[in-house]
Amino acid sequence: MPSVSRETTPPQVGDRWPAPVPPRVLTIANQKGGVGKTTSAVNLAAALSQHGLRALVIDLDPQGNASTALAVPHAAGSPSMYDVVVKGKPLGDVVVAAPDLPGLCCAPATIDLAGAEIELVPVVAREMRLRKALTSYLRTAEVDYVIIDCPPSLGLLTVNALVAAQEVLIPVQCEYYALEGLSQLVHTIDLVQTELNPELEISTLLLTMYDARTKLADAVAEDVRAHFGRRVLDTIIPRSVRISEAPGFGQTILSYDPGSRGARAYVQAAAELAAAAVSPAPVQLSPGPQRDTPEPRFHRPQEVQLHG
Ligand SMILES: Nc1ncnc2c1ncn2[C@@H]1O[C@H](COP(=O)(O)OP(=O)(O)O)[C@@H](O)[C@H]1O
Ligand SMILES: [Mg+2]
Repeated sequence: MPSVSRETTPPQVGDRWPAPVPPRVLTIANQKGGVGKTTSAVNLAAALSQHGLRALVIDLDPQGNASTALAVPHAAGSPSMYDVVVKGKPLGDVVVAAPDLPGLCCAPATIDLAGAEIELVPVVAREMRLRKALTSYLRTAEVDYVIIDCPPSLGLLTVNALVAAQEVLIPVQCEYYALEGLSQLVHTIDLVQTELNPELEISTLLLTMYDARTKLADAVAEDVRAHFGRRVLDTIIPRSVRISEAPGFGQTILSYDPGSRGARAYVQAAAELAAAAVSPAPVQLSPGPQRDTPEPRFHRPQEVQLHG
């Protein structure tokens, strides 16, 4: 498992970044909608692929926003994550190259996936569907980073994503109520970790949509750092109209406006992420006496129960 440390100097923009071995699988989760999950998934993946790393974005949101941003077709009925998660099709059968983005692939989501939460209910080991597909895909596929974009809920699709990953990246919007709901997310991650995927850790938090004009944004950023310490990337993604325009053109911010603040921020955030894969000095992240950052106020649940 990659160790996570913020002590190393991030690789410089333009460098070829180090490839993690084995590949890193990150789930981008937050049950709140509109916090920057999809934007972060596609732009981090694009930044990694621009620096010599092979990235796969798995779109697990029936809305298919990540597929749209990567210009990957995802009309209802076309091969998609629905076939993988519900029908048991091999992941490799639905992975396609993202146009004009060398090194970047996408497993698209169609609206069919909306039925998965219900269709999976009677299925045996329904929480393991994605993990199984991804494990067998990674046996032969040449990928350095798998980034899974989740829907805005904590249902079976998000649980599948958490079971399939080693790391969770939580985007946090620099706005009021940002921390509200995070305890529920952390609780779910704890349940998955205890019951289904002991490897799982919250490795990374990314502050998004930061507006320097508001004092509130600073207060939220400070609060998140107080709770999650070194797991919060130093880089903060600014609120930027250019970032929100890019998906409408089927582009990432890196190709839409490479010189913009938003593009530079995502590249810098990705560089920090990539640096964490090669840290020589792992930091103790699980709660314990060695911890050098304040403890999150979230507590491990006494009782664990997942989906009945
Ligand atoms: N840093 C940003 N600045 C401005 N708009 C942003 C930024 N990040 C995301 N957005 C926009 O906010 C909306 C929600 O972002 P999105 O990534 O889709 O969130 P989620 O996937 O969590 O629902 C989208 O319209 C997106 O283009
Ligand atoms: Mg989204």
